[in-house]
Amino acid sequence: MTENFNRLAKNIKHLGIKYGLSKVFNDFLTMGICSYHRDNLRSRLREQNADNETLYLNATGPYSEEELELFVECMAYLQLNVLDNPYSDILGEFFMQEITRGLNGQYFTPEHLCSFLSEMLNRHGKIEGKRFFDPACGSARMLLQAAKRNHKNYFYGADNSGTCAKMSVLNFFFNGLVGEVAWMDSLRMEWYGGWRINTDGVGIIPIEKEESAIWNEAPGQKPSVEPKEIENNTKLSSQQLTLF
Ligand SMILES: C[S@@+](CC[C@H](N)C(=O)[O-])C[C@H]1O[C@@H](n2cnc3c(N)ncnc32)[C@H](O)[C@@H]1O
Repeated sequence: MTENFNRLAKNIKHLGIKYGLSKVFNDFLTMGICSYHRDNLRSRLREQNADNETLYLNATGPYSEEELELFVECMAYLQLNVLDNPYSDILGEFFMQEITRGLNGQYFTPEHLCSFLSEMLNRHGKIEGKRFFDPACGSARMLLQAAKRNHKNYFYGADNSGTCAKMSVLNFFFNGLVGEVAWMDSLRMEWYGGWRINTDGVGIIPIEKEESAIWNEAPGQKPSVEPKEIENNTKLSSQQLTLF
């Protein structure tokens, strides 16, 4: 594993001794998502979304100043990793190695295999302007590899684990994927939460199911309202979501 992975893992594991690894990792993901809320980025922190602030303060609340510094360092390692090794998934790797260790089938597809599948999909030429969907996306590494082949698509991921959904959101955000992540049970059609990422400029926005393309366009689903068109000037192709 890379230096950035090792440094991130060291900090999270250090904090995990006191607070529990799963809690620390989840709080880290929440802090990241809240920090990169679109309103924060657009207004350069001059305007803040009240719900987002509450969520952020709840996540940071238990930790001392020194401990919060370690989270800030982790965020930097995540960003550095994108520069050194774009589209790689150190969050998913940490989650598998240190948190679930395969519990509930949470072994993600090895990255080289994701890359191979993406290569196969693009074997007749580069796919552009289409929508890629992984209904059980884990940390979104399949989608990351699809984006590595060609960025000019829209990416959709769903997972019934909140931790997986949050890892996917940050992986989308840092690697510049445009699309949506739903925290939902894709089989039972139960919705827990969702985010749109980089769709209207850079940033993350929480969404309700009525605004979600994943929810509204699921097979057999009658949209309660028309799904809100993705807000980035580029019209979505009307093609069915691609099952990747
Ligand atoms: C084997 S992992 C695969 C993850 C990813 N697609 C990959 O290839 O790396 C399976 C994922 O499915 C998720 N999952 C299991 N049942 C699900 C359901 N009913 N709805 C949504 N996600 C589900 C798990 O949380 C886990 O992250």
